[in-house]
Amino acid sequence: MRKPICLFILCFVCLMAHAQPRLSAENVDAVLQAMTLEEKAALLVGANQGVLYGGSAETIEYQLPESARMYDNRMGVGGSTYAFPHLGITPIVMADGPAGLRLSVKHRGKEGDYYCTAFPVGTALASTWNTDLVKQIGMAMGEEACAYGVDVMLAPGMNLHRNPLNGRNFEYYSEDPLLTGKMASAMVSGIQSRNVGTSVKHFAVNSQETNRKDNDDILGTRALRELYLKGFEIVVKEAQPWTVMSSYNRINGPWTQEDPALLTTILRKEWGFEGIVLSDWTAKRNTAAQVHAGNDLMMPGNKDQMQDIVQQVKVGTLSIADVDLCVRRVLEVVLRTNTYKGKMATDEPDLQAHAALSRQVASEGMVLLKNDGVLPLKNVEMVDLYGNTSYRFISGGTGSGKVNAAYTVSLKDGLRDAGYKMDSYLDNLYMSWLTYYDALRAEETYTILNPAPPVPELSVSREKLFARTKGDVAVITIGRNAGEATDRKIPADFDLSADEMALLRNVCDAYHAVGKKVVVVLNVSGVIETASWRAWPDAILLAWQLGQEGGNAVADVLSGKASPSGKLTMTFPLQYFDHPSSHNFPYDFVGPPSFGPVMSVTGRKEPLVKDVDYTLYEEGIYVGYRYFSSFGKDVSYPFGYGLSYTTFAYSKPSVKASSDGFVATVTVTNTGSLAGKEAVQLYVTAPSGGLEKPTLELRSFAKTRLLLPGESEVLNFPVSAYGLASFNEVSSAWETAAGTYQVHFGASVADIRCSVPFRLGKASRWEVNRVMEPVQPLQEITLNH
Ligand code: BGC
Repeated sequence: MRKPICLFILCFVCLMAHAQPRLSAENVDAVLQAMTLEEKAALLVGANQGVLYGGSAETIEYQLPESARMYDNRMGVGGSTYAFPHLGITPIVMADGPAGLRLSVKHRGKEGDYYCTAFPVGTALASTWNTDLVKQIGMAMGEEACAYGVDVMLAPGMNLHRNPLNGRNFEYYSEDPLLTGKMASAMVSGIQSRNVGTSVKHFAVNSQETNRKDNDDILGTRALRELYLKGFEIVVKEAQPWTVMSSYNRINGPWTQEDPALLTTILRKEWGFEGIVLSDWTAKRNTAAQVHAGNDLMMPGNKDQMQDIVQQVKVGTLSIADVDLCVRRVLEVVLRTNTYKGKMATDEPDLQAHAALSRQVASEGMVLLKNDGVLPLKNVEMVDLYGNTSYRFISGGTGSGKVNAAYTVSLKDGLRDAGYKMDSYLDNLYMSWLTYYDALRAEETYTILNPAPPVPELSVSREKLFARTKGDVAVITIGRNAGEATDRKIPADFDLSADEMALLRNVCDAYHAVGKKVVVVLNVSGVIETASWRAWPDAILLAWQLGQEGGNAVADVLSGKASPSGKLTMTFPLQYFDHPSSHNFPYDFVGPPSFGPVMSVTGRKEPLVKDVDYTLYEEGIYVGYRYFSSFGKDVSYPFGYGLSYTTFAYSKPSVKASSDGFVATVTVTNTGSLAGKEAVQLYVTAPSGGLEKPTLELRSFAKTRLLLPGESEVLNFPVSAYGLASFNEVSSAWETAAGTYQVHFGASVADIRCSVPFRLGKASRWEVNRVMEPVQPLQEITLNH
């Protein structure tokens, strides 16, 4: 009897000795210990890219440890990590944003179509100046991600609008870092409230798409910290994203993905980031350098990287401690995911509710640039609709930010559903023109990184127009699209084409001649030239790209069902070259580059091409309104600008000291005859004597609720001493000078309604690491006053 019991106990002990631990919050250490070096290497390298770019599911044959399992990418997500079932390690499933979840419509092995909601693009969201709404959009996106089994959304995009031509500006929020950081925080909190992670991107200084994978961005540490890192600092401190995506480019020499100063010293040690860093979708960097820098996860991943990690640990050029640190951090994110928690995908997001939310937010993200009284439309039964884009509204940009939505409501459909009649002649004309063009292009192959160019505008002759003018009002839509991998160009794209100018001129002349008004709708991805033609139409509505409900949302605003309350998050210059950064941007680059030797600024040996291989940020901190308002330069439309259907008065401005700075308050009253909301901006002018500063800097903002005529609301603006600080490159410290600050309450940066002085008794200083300096001090442009 004894013998079998002993045997049983022996077997049990042996089994236990060989039993593998399973991942749980309590035994991360044990799992780490149980993993082989090969398994660790595989966990730090992405598992597959999926069908992101429209091709078939691409699965690269890795030499994997036998235990590793590939995620079955039947939804066409952007990427995932490997699973190790024997250790209880599930994959992290990642899909793109930021304007909605990006999945394939067809899911392998399943019947039917699976759509996601296309929400307004980042720039349109930021134009609402309404962080509550942005958070709600985040929640809806998080719910869709949950419903489809996605663990981390590769969003939000939050690079700064350094220059109006960046092809991806539509994904990003603003030329101002505070607004960017606050919008990103709202989005991250919204998505993460549904237990779906985010990946704030692209960290950092990813300000152009031309040569995006190899460009070196050369800038001083003041501009770096105050402008390009500030938004990321805010989102990390306020919302702790699960992941940060390191960008493709270099900054002052090193690739972001290999730079410990950026990924460890600043991101983790100074700001307290607790999640993982994953690389943007390149596989070209030095593997050991990435692991050492704290780039925990290499996406999309390839077999060389995995083998490289194993090899370098074996020969001692990469320490196992560095590897373990990254593995531990990846395991900690695995633990948080819905996939790990066994939450099953339902495949049934509430697309109807999300479409309604998208429409509501879209109507608040539009910016009314001009209104000579024609809007909201009154006594209008019939609208004459011009411009290709009126009939094919653009819902969002191209590239990885494109969402596969079930539909896009055109302006034609939106106006029809709102009860307006339209001229069937114009409808037929435009629809046959677009169909004709489709046929011409039937043989071309377009992809999301190489989208079809816009269809040229029809040249509608003056004579024909003078003979028509049937409707009560004319609406012309001007469209622009842009996206990943290419920057926009001048004159094409930024300026209007000759056909577009003729269309605007002729329609305005013909309708004005018979006493009818003209409204221009801008369905654009970024800033365009407006100064030369803005006097012609009676109203200009900057709609941006509003997602799938675009046409309905524009109809809501035109008809007065919704009151516009969006404001610009960037400056519209008189002309492109008014932006100081324009002289250091590939505005007309069509490649391939002609090489010229300019080496000293980068410290690199090979011949490099200016604005392509490297870009000098000679404008320093004078980006956008920081430049225009400090140097008194005229603009077409200033930062923060936007009209309403009603008017607002600001009263009782006050500023009171708080434990940590001050709290400003102002009362906003609706003095007009329609309901509306007002976004109020708090700008600060610093006392002289300290560091040179822009004349005005946005330090806080707030938006009212919908105020009925006569109603008031008191808005609060808390500002900390740190929030007033500027970065001193000499001392490598953030500094807030003592003295008298002027606190301004603005309807835009150029429309300050009231100001109050505030005396800060004590100066403050926050020293930080002296890192990421350029090889040579950067000669910043002498900006002429
Ligand atoms: C883009 C990222 C995107 C990734 C995955 C990259 O090319 O730059 O923004 O998240 O692809 O699709």
